[in-house]
Amino acid sequence: MCYHDKGIDMQREIVEIGHPALREMAQKVPDTEISSARIQRLIDDLIETKRKKNGAGLAATQVAVPWRIFIVEVANNPRYPYKPEIPLTVVINPEITFLTDTRISVYEGCLSIPDLRGIVERCPEIRVQGLDRQGEAIDHTIKGISAGTFQHEDDHLNGILFPDRVKDTRTLCTWGEFSRRYEDDFRAYVAKIVNQYGS
Ligand code: NI
Repeated sequence: MCYHDKGIDMQREIVEIGHPALREMAQKVPDTEISSARIQRLIDDLIETKRKKNGAGLAATQVAVPWRIFIVEVANNPRYPYKPEIPLTVVINPEITFLTDTRISVYEGCLSIPDLRGIVERCPEIRVQGLDRQGEAIDHTIKGISAGTFQHEDDHLNGILFPDRVKDTRTLCTWGEFSRRYEDDFRAYVAKIVNQYGS
């Protein structure tokens, strides 16, 4: 019987900016390890932790585990009400390829950086390759706002946090100031992107 069957809360602690785990280069998960109990449990815990905290995604480095694994999922998210839905996607050993030179400028936030948002540039058309939790190859084309979410999580596996990518630090703001001053305009911009890219 696993811990989940006993109903034990499997949320993990999310480490915050300043914790060295967030600056580590995560290691590739060996194929032979993917089905192991520790990796499968880590994935379950990432999903549960992300859902409890209303994240759009979560990378293993954010729970101080240096493996190249992230998850993405957006469904009725109160933290990001303007984000298009993304079905639960587990990516092990991701490889992201940019498919266009176009960039979009989007506000991001991060569960490891409480109460801060800022504008980063993201590629709006990417190819995401890697393995799913069964070790099967995945190959997705992700567009629009959702593409930014995948790039944010992939950055975590390389020790990169969104403020590292903020070009104009004057766009940094708290969540309160974001919703008070910038959210309306940003929602209109997101709606345009979603209209253009379908996600
Ligand atoms: Ni993050």
